[in-house]
Amino acid sequence: MSLAAQVQATLNTKAAAPGADGGVTALIDFIDELCGVYLDDSKGYLIESRIAPIVRRLECRDYADLVNRAKAFSGQEIRSDIIDAITTHETLFFRDESPFKALRFKVIPDLIQHIESTGRQRRVRIWSAACSTGQEVYSIAMVLHDIAQDLPGWDLQILGTDVSPASVATAQRGWYSNLEVGRGLDAMSKSNYFSHEAEGWQVAPQLQRFTKFEVRNLLKPYPERGLFDIVFCRNVAIYFKPDQRASVFNRMVETITPGGWLFVGSAERLSDLGPQFTPQTHCNCTCYRPKPI
Ligand SMILES: C[S@@+](CC[C@H](N)C(=O)[O-])C[C@H]1O[C@@H](n2cnc3c(N)ncnc32)[C@H](O)[C@@H]1O
Repeated sequence: MSLAAQVQATLNTKAAAPGADGGVTALIDFIDELCGVYLDDSKGYLIESRIAPIVRRLECRDYADLVNRAKAFSGQEIRSDIIDAITTHETLFFRDESPFKALRFKVIPDLIQHIESTGRQRRVRIWSAACSTGQEVYSIAMVLHDIAQDLPGWDLQILGTDVSPASVATAQRGWYSNLEVGRGLDAMSKSNYFSHEAEGWQVAPQLQRFTKFEVRNLLKPYPERGLFDIVFCRNVAIYFKPDQRASVFNRMVETITPGGWLFVGSAERLSDLGPQFTPQTHCNCTCYRPKPI
């Protein structure tokens, strides 16, 4: 049976006998476990368009063979290929605009004032969880760079993480094509913060100095990295099942400082997760302050 026929047959007949579907069911479960993306009937085309090319390239017999190879100790590269292929990396600079305005005009000024009043170390730590190829991180870095001029002696840091190793590598490199910088950056930001290199645009060191990146799966326990004052977790939880989404945000709250802030995607709302997720609106942006000061 062809790969496409295997996918169709499995998605059409939920009662396929174990092993009779060429491993499509095992693949769906494996991808769910790997990165929380659950491919229901409506997403069968993603297996064909994104995973079948890997099966062919590696000359696997079928999807079951791919899953077995990916699960092996030596299957790290295959696991990364599957994650990169199945996750959606759509992003752009200053996506939705209003979170970056809220950051500049409300959130950072309030935080600075609060930290000053408590005598805490002069440090602001920001986490961009699911940062894709880094545009969100560098948008935050541009805001920080502008503000930093008035904040001598402050340590400002952004950690960008994503489950996709290829996206994290792109983010770390900080090089973007003409098309990518054309999405969200005005001419002034481009000339202030990028240099023209290799027919594209390289992020300047004065922005990169605020940033660090690492591969991190939001569905796995978070490594101990201290607390964050601000978390951006935008346009990723929409891919998770309800219990995974609730767990991700509840665990995320544990990583936020008292009085810290949480930003989600413009179409996402967290009120269903409990009273600590009561929305606030600043500069037209809905955000959350899940742990009172
Ligand atoms: C649509 S992009 C959003 C990027 C950025 N936050 C934005 O709003 O522009 C979603 C990102 O979530 C990442 N992702 C998906 N599942 C994930 C998981 N379990 N843990 C961490 N990142 C994940 C994908 O690799 C992808 O880069």
